[in-house]
Amino acid sequence: MAAVVVSGMRPTGRLHLGHYLGTLKQWLKLQRTSRCFFFVADWHALTTGIGSSQEIRENTEEMVADWLAAGIDPQAAVLFRQSDVKQHAELHLLLSMVTPTPWLIRNPTVKEQARELGMIRSDEESEMVKITYGHLGYPVLQAADILMYQATGVPVGVDQVPHVELTRDIARSFNSYFGAVFVEPEPLLAESPKVPGIDGRKMSKSYGNAVFLADSPEQIDAKLSRMMTDPRRVRRNDPGDPDVCPAFNLHRIYCSPDEIAFVTEGCRTAGIGCLECKKIMIRHVIEEIAPLGDARRRWIEKRPLIGEVLGKGSEKAREVAEATMGKVRSAMGLAQAPEG
Ligand code: TRP
Ligand code: SF4
Repeated sequence: MAAVVVSGMRPTGRLHLGHYLGTLKQWLKLQRTSRCFFFVADWHALTTGIGSSQEIRENTEEMVADWLAAGIDPQAAVLFRQSDVKQHAELHLLLSMVTPTPWLIRNPTVKEQARELGMIRSDEESEMVKITYGHLGYPVLQAADILMYQATGVPVGVDQVPHVELTRDIARSFNSYFGAVFVEPEPLLAESPKVPGIDGRKMSKSYGNAVFLADSPEQIDAKLSRMMTDPRRVRRNDPGDPDVCPAFNLHRIYCSPDEIAFVTEGCRTAGIGCLECKKIMIRHVIEEIAPLGDARRRWIEKRPLIGEVLGKGSEKAREVAEATMGKVRSAMGLAQAPEG
């Protein structure tokens, strides 16, 4: 059976280096080998951000511009917006009928999200009354996204693995009631490198520590030149240790073995300064990211084309989705959609 890959991203606006190294690079590889469906999870964005529904359109275009600039190819993969394929909502509803609530209440990912957003204070089950029905059902919608296309693989970060496991459970539950309709997908874990932001914490838009794919070479240089290093290197002649240096994580990703050896030796012996050291890595980051910025600007100049790409992708997605829903409805003994 040919591999089918489904993956979605919530429309958070401009993507950063962490998204690129963790997710987009994996998508780029997969689009060459598998039938890929990549989509904007705009309904998922509503589960935690009902107040920001107006920003979703703008954020969608900004994010998809980054996909396209990075080389995600609408000829190779089906690119679409979740809310353009209403079948996802129907399947979400039907799957909710075969999903016991404890599976959702125990879900670690939704709890963590709610805690990070300050919606709940602890992991106690009593706190779950503060979570909306929509947010609790987040993984059921995600299962609908995945099962709709009979995905065999779902590229995700470690934090999303519980959602793929839950998708398998939901598929099994449905199949046990109604026959073998759904394929159980596997999580495809990227060997995602550690990408710290310029303050050394995990790179994240909300921490204000990100290098964006849309940043100019000057901006990238300025940000990374300020990036945190081994705090023991207070003065130029204090030796340091690359293993505890946040910036060095980027050296690991971008530098040649010779450069790594040079920098490691220079750091431990205080032979080179931190700025000189970082410049070696910064050159490589700019080499990779600058062309994306140019491609991105061309897409943003022709913004309506982004909508067209998503429109065409949504048409293809709807065809596949409707075929799946045909099977689901008949397995359940439900009426098919009326003509027209
Ligand atoms: N929950 C995913 C995230 O926050 C986004 C997502 C929604 C997704 N539906 C999906 C990912 C289906 C993979 C497959 O990153
Ligand atoms: Fe980090 Fe390089 Fe400075 Fe060492 S010399 S602390 S590796 S930036």
